[in-house]
Amino acid sequence: MPSDELRPFGVYVHWPFCLSKCPYCDFNSHVRHAAIDEARFVRAFATEIAATAARVPGRAVSTIFLGGGTPSLMQPSTVAAVLDAISRHWTVAPDAEVTLEANPTSVEATRFRGYRAAGVNRVSLGVQALDDADLKALGRTHTVQEALDAVAIARAAFERYSFDLIYARPRQTPSAWATELGRAIREAAEHLSLYQLTIEPDTPFHTLHATGKLAVPDDDTARALYDVTQETCDRARLPAYEVSNHARPGAECRHNLIYWRAHEYAGIGPGAHGRLDIDGERHATAAEKRPESWLMRVESLGHGLITDDVLTREQRADEFLLMGLRLAEGINPARYQTIAGRPLDPERITMLAAHGLLERHSDGCLRVTQAGFPVLDAVVADLAA
Ligand SMILES: C[S@@+](CC[C@H](N)C(=O)[O-])C[C@H]1O[C@@H](n2cnc3c(N)ncnc32)[C@H](O)[C@@H]1O
Ligand code: SF4
Repeated sequence: MPSDELRPFGVYVHWPFCLSKCPYCDFNSHVRHAAIDEARFVRAFATEIAATAARVPGRAVSTIFLGGGTPSLMQPSTVAAVLDAISRHWTVAPDAEVTLEANPTSVEATRFRGYRAAGVNRVSLGVQALDDADLKALGRTHTVQEALDAVAIARAAFERYSFDLIYARPRQTPSAWATELGRAIREAAEHLSLYQLTIEPDTPFHTLHATGKLAVPDDDTARALYDVTQETCDRARLPAYEVSNHARPGAECRHNLIYWRAHEYAGIGPGAHGRLDIDGERHATAAEKRPESWLMRVESLGHGLITDDVLTREQRADEFLLMGLRLAEGINPARYQTIAGRPLDPERITMLAAHGLLERHSDGCLRVTQAGFPVLDAVVADLAA
């Protein structure tokens, strides 16, 4: 087992506010009409960082991710103060990846240089679509031109940038998506996140879908859209390294790899989740989701956690499979055995391989195949059973 200095350790910080709520989104994001007291949030973030560092001291932070919500609504000085608090309590590696999620509006792009000066070195932009009518239907407030301008500003300001698109949108055809994705790839540098539209419970899209007012592509079209995504990105040498994430080899998002490889990370802020290794046990933490309640908890208790569970071996092993099999690199069965205390069932592996859904690579890793990824949940459920 490598020492704490060598093991990857990520810090996730959640900014829970957006200017408006997109009708498909079920993330922990809130709209407030009064100004946000950013100084009060900075104090609370610093308090939670201190409390977490007291539980997992001596870590070398390899990645920091400011996610949301819309972190690009934060003032650059707020971002600088949060990064400063992290480096006061842990050692931040000189080559740490520091990502900020941004919405691609012109107002937010004006802050990019300030974020760079604060220490952010990677930005992830929520472009979502390169089609104005679809952006409107998704409830987005930016236009295609505004998004492309924000991408150009990101390219100039940061060493690394990525952007997100949502596909399998209502009425989207595989050929229209292929054209749109081709255009996106010409704007992309090293990384793209491509998410299939999911109809999440308790969202306006769910109600519209349930009442027949919003039609999403049927299964065959969704599969064709997925196949177009893989083919187009493979041709452009942006292969999928995870179900929805594409990168040039070596340009993967190191922070998200920490989740998928089941390494350790701290969750800071409203609704943030963490996985902390304390005295040989893995703790799964989660904070209060409502921003104002989270603030009050942190101010009175010194942290905002409402969950702090020690995971059983079974839970850890299931999580390892669920996260690791999302990756093209797959999982190391020996690591599974160490976590679970027993090996994976060889008969199930043989059966899944016979169905062409799973393969054993020459390096010994188990990987889901191209045919297996569209039915990933079933493959994981079968292996974990
Ligand atoms: C929570 S958002 C944060 C980033 C930023 N607020 C934004 O929306 O641009 C992260 C990404 O999740 C994706 N996303 C959110 N809800 C989704 C859904 N229901 N289906 C597919 N993708 C979704 C979007 O692509 C979005 O960029
Ligand atoms: S801007 Fe992003 S986080 Fe906010 S509601 Fe829309 S998708 Fe969700």
